[in-house]
Amino acid sequence: MITELITTSYLTTTVLTCIVGYLVVQLLRRKRYKLPPGPKGWPIIGSYLTLTSGKYELRDLLNMWAKEYGDLYMFSMFGSRFVILNSYDLVHEAFQSPDFNDRAPILPCNKALNRSNTELNLLFNLKCELSIIHNSNFEDLVAAEAAKLIKNFASQEGTFFNPITDIYVTVSNVITGILTGKTYDYNDEEFVELTKRAQQVFEWMGPGSFFYHVPVLAYMPMENNKMGDAAVKGMFDFLEKILKRHRQAYNPEDEPKDLIEAFMHEEANKKAQNVDVGSFTHQCLKQVVWDLMLGGIETVSTSLSWYFLFMAQYPDVQAKVQAELDKVIGRDRLPSLSDRQNLPFTESTSVECYRFCRLINVQIPHRTRCDVKLGGYDIPKGTNVGTNASWLSSSPSLWENSEEFVPDRFIDKETGLYNSKLEAGLVEFGVGRRVCPGEQLARTELFVIFTHILHRFTLRLPEGTPITRNGINGLTHHPKPYKITAAPRR
Ligand code: HEM
Repeated sequence: MITELITTSYLTTTVLTCIVGYLVVQLLRRKRYKLPPGPKGWPIIGSYLTLTSGKYELRDLLNMWAKEYGDLYMFSMFGSRFVILNSYDLVHEAFQSPDFNDRAPILPCNKALNRSNTELNLLFNLKCELSIIHNSNFEDLVAAEAAKLIKNFASQEGTFFNPITDIYVTVSNVITGILTGKTYDYNDEEFVELTKRAQQVFEWMGPGSFFYHVPVLAYMPMENNKMGDAAVKGMFDFLEKILKRHRQAYNPEDEPKDLIEAFMHEEANKKAQNVDVGSFTHQCLKQVVWDLMLGGIETVSTSLSWYFLFMAQYPDVQAKVQAELDKVIGRDRLPSLSDRQNLPFTESTSVECYRFCRLINVQIPHRTRCDVKLGGYDIPKGTNVGTNASWLSSSPSLWENSEEFVPDRFIDKETGLYNSKLEAGLVEFGVGRRVCPGEQLARTELFVIFTHILHRFTLRLPEGTPITRNGINGLTHHPKPYKITAAPRR
């Protein structure tokens, strides 16, 4: 009995000491730094309850704070700090600096890889992702997958169908083709399951994937975490099988045909030269392939799901894009990347679809490497810093008639040509050294798949379907399931 009392009082004292210690550290930190403004939050849990109360959509809450606090603000949760940037100039100032270029770890991914190191993908970003993904032309591969999608749309024979899973399979095939050299059938159950897993991972992460950068929350045994863990594990299991097959078939004498083989080649070269393999390990390969697969599947599939929905919602705009395609390309061939500069309305419409759908809520955060200054404030080392992309793409202070779908928004009034400078404010692919390595591939996919489908079909929604751009908010904002018809064009 006495031992129990002593143990309880010892525990209480320890917990109280920790809390008081934590509060003193926070107070001293506040005094030492001129921190950005932001919601007050509670001791220890910070803004956790406000963010999870369900009173507001997380994205709406972040945008309300942007209105209240301005270009940058800070909130915290369980000791992890987040700074949100709501200004194009500040995004550029911050992410051009190497001090902002660490990436916050996505903790459940570390858990699945059983590792604590967070910087594994840095070296490979330079070596393989950039050389293979960034500098190659994937138009033929994308066009081949678009052809399968056309066949699939045609097979619906004008009945109503939900195109989203087919779009996912098309886009997933492009990236798996590049990474693994193999593509899959639309009815391959394991592959369709993989695409669903990728969708689930993004949905579960939520805007900015905030909760998965906070150790206490990422490892809590909640239902949502279990679903996310299962999705991450499902993807890793699929990858493990692919990597195993590659290892068995790999021959160092052959020219590498895909990214996995290129990686194995580099690993084999290093081993042959008896030098340190560095990041060229199986673990790292798995991480990198996962990064590219996840980054490559969800973003492009979700964009295209919105693009087709908007075309069906705005039939006049769809007809205008088709008229331009017919005039410039004709009916005897499909559009190709080299036609882009002659298709200003199509280009501008596609970017407006991007702006209007508010694809990314908050871009995956960077992490500060040391104490830094930004916008007149101090940002301590280890702070997560994210771009509020939803704000940048929809704020009335940045876009005229921001709530309206204006397809020619990106056409220069004087020249009548599409002007890419007009879209700079969207910072779709990020800024600085950690800019998206898949930008060129993504732009190819969006152009080719969008124009090929509109060249071949007219998309329509069932009569009376309400027009909306409200979808489901995860790391990306994706449309709720919808049905369209795809009427073949003559
Ligand atoms: C519409 C399509 C896409 C959009 C809007 C998009 C956007 C972004 C953004 C905003 C970032 C963060 C940049 C930063 O932190 O500064 C990013 C990172 C990344 N993206 Fe994309 N992306 C797209 C397509 C792709 C594709 C097709 C791939 C794969 C080939 C890909 C792979 C990645 C990877 C691996 C990263 C992390 C890079 C790093 O940590 O350094 N993305 N993307």
